[in-house]
Amino acid sequence: MTGIDYSQKIPNNVDLAGDKRLQRALEAWQPNYLEWWAQMGPTDFNTKDVYLRTAINVGAEGWAHFGYVKMPEYRWGIFLAPAEAGRTIGFGDHYGQAAWQQVPGEYRNWLRRLIVTQADTEPASVEQQRLLGHTAPSLYDLRNLFQVNVEEGRHLWAMVYLLHTYFGKDGREEAEELLHRRSGNADHPRILGTFNEPCEDWLSFLCFTMFTDRDGKFQLLALAESGFDPLARTCRFMLTEEAHHMFVGQTGVGRVIEKTLTVMREHPDRDVRDFGAIPVDIIQKYINFWASSSTDLYGAEISSNSANFFRSGLKGRAYEDKQKDHLALEQFYLFENFVDGRISKEEVPLRNAMNEVLRDEYVKDNQRGIDFWNRICERLDSPVRFTLPHRRFHRKIGCYAGGHFHPATGELLDESTWLANVGSWLPTAADKAYVKSLMKPVYEQGKYASWIAPPAKGIDEKGVDYEYVKLA
Ligand SMILES: [Fe+2]
Ligand SMILES: [Fe+2]
Repeated sequence: MTGIDYSQKIPNNVDLAGDKRLQRALEAWQPNYLEWWAQMGPTDFNTKDVYLRTAINVGAEGWAHFGYVKMPEYRWGIFLAPAEAGRTIGFGDHYGQAAWQQVPGEYRNWLRRLIVTQADTEPASVEQQRLLGHTAPSLYDLRNLFQVNVEEGRHLWAMVYLLHTYFGKDGREEAEELLHRRSGNADHPRILGTFNEPCEDWLSFLCFTMFTDRDGKFQLLALAESGFDPLARTCRFMLTEEAHHMFVGQTGVGRVIEKTLTVMREHPDRDVRDFGAIPVDIIQKYINFWASSSTDLYGAEISSNSANFFRSGLKGRAYEDKQKDHLALEQFYLFENFVDGRISKEEVPLRNAMNEVLRDEYVKDNQRGIDFWNRICERLDSPVRFTLPHRRFHRKIGCYAGGHFHPATGELLDESTWLANVGSWLPTAADKAYVKSLMKPVYEQGKYASWIAPPAKGIDEKGVDYEYVKLA
């Protein structure tokens, strides 16, 4: 395995120097990207040294280098996982045929749409998180925020490489558009709902990296199966980085829980607010919001698009190789449809249910995260338990968007029951105001905000009191 050539303007392992036209096109896009970063990336920290990891190789071992970097000088590069000799398409109508090294003409538009949709989420999340550095609960957390930000930037690079290399003029236009849409902008929003939601406090950020980056994991797993080999290889490497983002969310929320339960144990007769911790019910409400919003990202339960993406070999299932039947032509998927105000079991051809199949894997993985948090509760001898909201709860997309459902049981609720209870299920204005009131920066080495416990260990075997960001 060769390392990455960092002497080039754009570090890469795709022999960019061997394709001068492409290299020029990407070098022309680079200043626009940096301008977007300056405008929409993290505010005010661009001159600071941050202890970041940078990809230097694509192997499973030792792919990252750690060191102090100023974010605008981060080496955003283009890295694909190694090619598999003789790789064949693993599912759909072209099952068993040689994987495509070029865009199959008949699927060009679908493929571009899949790549653009994935690409759009990357800069969107950076925009959503741009102000959080000002209220970081510690230098450790500040560093993790910036690590996630620069890697989302690199994921944008990864997708723009595909657009520039394989889609000609319209690919270059799409690459420009990716720098022009804005998260939460009414006139020119990002493509997917969750990526337009405000993420203005750290509890939201930690829930976002837990639930929304986890959606990213499953979209990448499905695209890593693609018959279009450059996309598959790109996504496989992106998954390596994505794991850290979910780590930030899962352990981060876990630390918030640990802090709250510790305060409750030490002061059983007091309100945890008196000690600047976050009450259990507010944590659960934030979980409910971000989990339900991110569950929407898979799209409608029955979808002809998802059938087309599968049939054409462009987007598979997560862990496709574990499936017995890669054609999915004869099977059916049983799900609970919600039509005309009632829930009824319905069977749909499996290919039309691929969104739901991917969502199933996502929900299972979310539950493992909840179990992790509940083990923290057990370890602290607390009777508190957290729950994943029912997949019907608070949906905006798909059949369940047509009703109100209980977060624990999934039962259908009438409007008045919903209105009477929604304030105990989703964050209220008062909850958000309280959480925001806690958002004061803690920049002293080794110190942590009142609402979050220190991590079990630091990054790259450095201590929890390491100077992860040099602010002086
Ligand atoms: Fe990403
Ligand atoms: Fe991510």
